[in-house]
Amino acid sequence: MSFDLIFFGGTGDLSWRKLMPALFQAFRHGKLPAGGRILAVARDEQDDDAYRRWLKDRFQDVEGAKRPNDEEFARFAELLHYRRMDLSQPADYAGLLDWVATRGADTVVLYLATSPHLFPQICTQLGAVGLNGPQVRVVLEKPLGHDLASAQEINRVVRATFGETQALRIDHYLGKPSVQNLMALRFGNALFEPLWRRDSIANIQITLAESLGVGTRGDFYDRTGALRDMVQNHALQLLTMVAMEPPSRNDADAIRDEKLKVLRSLQPFTEERVARDVVRGQYRRGHVDGQPVPGYLEEAKVPEGSRCETFVALRTEVQNWRWAGVPFYLRTGKRLAQREAQIVVNFRPTPHSIFPGSAAANRLVIKLQPEDGLELHLMAAKGHAQGEALTPVSLDLDFDKAFAEDRVGAYERLLLESIAGRLNLFVRSDEQEQAWRWVEPVLEAWRREDAAGGGPRPYAAGSGGPAAASALVARDGFAWPEEQ
Ligand code: BG6
Repeated sequence: MSFDLIFFGGTGDLSWRKLMPALFQAFRHGKLPAGGRILAVARDEQDDDAYRRWLKDRFQDVEGAKRPNDEEFARFAELLHYRRMDLSQPADYAGLLDWVATRGADTVVLYLATSPHLFPQICTQLGAVGLNGPQVRVVLEKPLGHDLASAQEINRVVRATFGETQALRIDHYLGKPSVQNLMALRFGNALFEPLWRRDSIANIQITLAESLGVGTRGDFYDRTGALRDMVQNHALQLLTMVAMEPPSRNDADAIRDEKLKVLRSLQPFTEERVARDVVRGQYRRGHVDGQPVPGYLEEAKVPEGSRCETFVALRTEVQNWRWAGVPFYLRTGKRLAQREAQIVVNFRPTPHSIFPGSAAANRLVIKLQPEDGLELHLMAAKGHAQGEALTPVSLDLDFDKAFAEDRVGAYERLLLESIAGRLNLFVRSDEQEQAWRWVEPVLEAWRREDAAGGGPRPYAAGSGGPAAASALVARDGFAWPEEQ
């Protein structure tokens, strides 16, 4: 199958930090279908060779990436091309169409890794030159809008040129192997599904914690904040995967229909509920890994007195028969004690105990980061003596070790899926809009609070976030995992 993979924003951060290294990995793993061309499009005047040299240099700066050796990179570079384009010029799109026509590839993937304000213009121009035929797919990177109206507007413009099945909205969390494993755990095993409901589950906690601050992205981040940056997309996508009903088939729309139903069942926010069930915070200076780090307001490009939230914790419920009354807690933040992403399913305690001492309830931890694995916490008898208290033990499964050879990173997975045209891991426009609809009242309530002199709660960098986040869970008689 021949393909052309075209990156708009080909010299941007996302391209050289994530996308090109991911493609290189796919190439190295032998997973990139043969017969492909990769084209980077940007404003700079340079030829293919200059771009290849530039990219090779950039690869040295990619954190955690395996450095390519010269021979390996040279083979990869044969696939790489560069084209200068002024995205406001119709003639440049006509030129791109000619370039595509020279090969007539079976599949053309147009990856928009530019600033999202350019999406409407790019899509409209692509449509105008006819680069939107059935073999063409467009991949849209987040942020897709900053509220419901702007997301709807982007979708309207995209839809005028591309059909729903041609538009692939990226949420890179869906490409993470542990998220795939969550599907496998729930729907490839009969063991958990009968327990996966309100009768057996006390609460579910989703944590996406980062130890990094906003770095050089202060201006972008300040217009965004943690709710838009992490909750509206990544955290809600994880919640839908945990809470959805079993889809009837492993096909994109069967899965996305079920995810949409979850989003529609989320308890809506009122102003009172935002005040009670949502905690927002902003980091102050502190220490991470023993090193002093500045507070959010001292970061480059952050406006003075900003009320932008760098932390959110919230409580919600999925209002349906399966989940009625089960709290779902989501929390995310920058400059927390450590980088850790996980979903914790807390089961109910045993109804009656025949052992002395208190028994911890069972807990299933689906770990996304830094390791990718599963932990099942159980109670066990250590000795033989009757009357001895039970001991907590855990069954650990480390997917990185178990599947070392076959591990594929999130962007690598999503790029390969986009070439193959499998949409399971991409977000449909109605899911994305529904997620905005749900978070919008929170944004509105915060605007009103700010106008009345309110704002986010401070927390020290390197801590676990504002104390109110613990109180939110404690109010229901529960605790975050590190506090148990
Ligand atoms: C991005 C956010 O979508 O996800 C960033 O814009 C965040 O602010 C990143 O740092 C986290 O992704 P990961 O894969 O490192 O957990």
